[in-house]
Amino acid sequence: MRDDWRSRFAANVREYQGYPIGKTLQYLTDPEIISLAGGLPSPEVFQRSEFRLAAEKACDRDIDRVMQYSPIPGEVKLMDAVLRFLQRDDIRIDRENLVITTSGQHGLDLTGRLFLDPGDVVLVDRPTFAGAIVAFEMQRPRFVGVNIEEDGSDVVGMREALEQLTAAGTPPKFIYVVPDFQNPSGITICLAKREALLDLSYEFDLPIVEDSPYRDLRYSGESIPAIFTLDQQRDGGHVIGLYTFSKLFCPGMRVGFNIGPPEVIKQMTHIKEGNILNTPKWNQDMCLAFLEDMGLEQHLENCRSYYREKLGVFLETMAQHFPPETGVSWTRPEGGLFLWVTVPAHIDTQELFFEAIEHKVAFVPGEQFYGEKPEHNHMRINFSFVSKEQLAIAVERLAVCIKKRL
Ligand SMILES: Cc1ncc(COP(=O)(O)O)c(C=O)c1O
Repeated sequence: MRDDWRSRFAANVREYQGYPIGKTLQYLTDPEIISLAGGLPSPEVFQRSEFRLAAEKACDRDIDRVMQYSPIPGEVKLMDAVLRFLQRDDIRIDRENLVITTSGQHGLDLTGRLFLDPGDVVLVDRPTFAGAIVAFEMQRPRFVGVNIEEDGSDVVGMREALEQLTAAGTPPKFIYVVPDFQNPSGITICLAKREALLDLSYEFDLPIVEDSPYRDLRYSGESIPAIFTLDQQRDGGHVIGLYTFSKLFCPGMRVGFNIGPPEVIKQMTHIKEGNILNTPKWNQDMCLAFLEDMGLEQHLENCRSYYREKLGVFLETMAQHFPPETGVSWTRPEGGLFLWVTVPAHIDTQELFFEAIEHKVAFVPGEQFYGEKPEHNHMRINFSFVSKEQLAIAVERLAVCIKKRL
């Protein structure tokens, strides 16, 4: 029996490979490697002393409840604070529209489990967030991708895909997008395209899953209403919003939340009962303190000015090393933590990755961000984690590896 475990695994996970980025990160044990690979916020913006204070307060207030099970939809005080937080975006909903999740990844997992059967289609951008692919993959869906454009999803291409899929009797279960400073490309969906996506949602009667961890990290340009907000100005009920505290507060707490129509949230809560039961109260208390007691707006402003500078350093150093004739191009995000570098088509960035780590620099090969038919000449770059000095050195090291192959 010990030799034959695989055949005993459930069909949904027998071929399941987990998170490719996690495997990429395994190569990065050498401390001299400057890693632009992970999606880590910078510890420089962590509110350490406020965190310690809030942790003590949470225990002083009611240690027995902190150490106990807690309500499955979430702690009421945190839920109410989240509802107030969303009002900043003109999102006006009630507790029945909200479930606290144990991270953004958990929010994705609940979404996949709720909607997808094997073979169901999910319509996505190309590229799209690898964590969403890996969460949904657990249900063995089929991804149909449409190449993203500079101003967001190609809604004309998506319409064509929807028409074809509907005619073939396999309409998608939902459209998944990361509209603000997308992970991995840094691209933002413009207002007209957000409205056009909603048009598709109404016309083809399918939900939009709006995954939005970076919305508050805008460094330039004007904020664009969330698709959820725009939907509320219509009939409403077409959008499911996924959020996480990981990027604004800290990933260590593993707390996020999903919003949507009551029926959707109720069933997600049932699934949460079955897969993790409750989100730890202590973690929720810390997120409550983050929203209410740690100077939220000032903190967000600090994050923005800190990351804005880093992005500037990265973009400037890229421009110095890669004049247009090199054929290397990159996105210029207005926020978030990532950008997307495209090298000439003959360069395979998975091969480049192994050379790069010998030169003590790392990125995530772009092929991990496609639900199907991956492209091989892109790199996802994270600019938030390492210092400005290291960012400049990282670009120099990358330039050495790339220029050899031009
Ligand atoms: C678009 C997107 N959704 C969800 C997540 C997952 O967030 P968490 O770290 O809270 O699981 C991330 C993290 O990188 C992300 O970029």
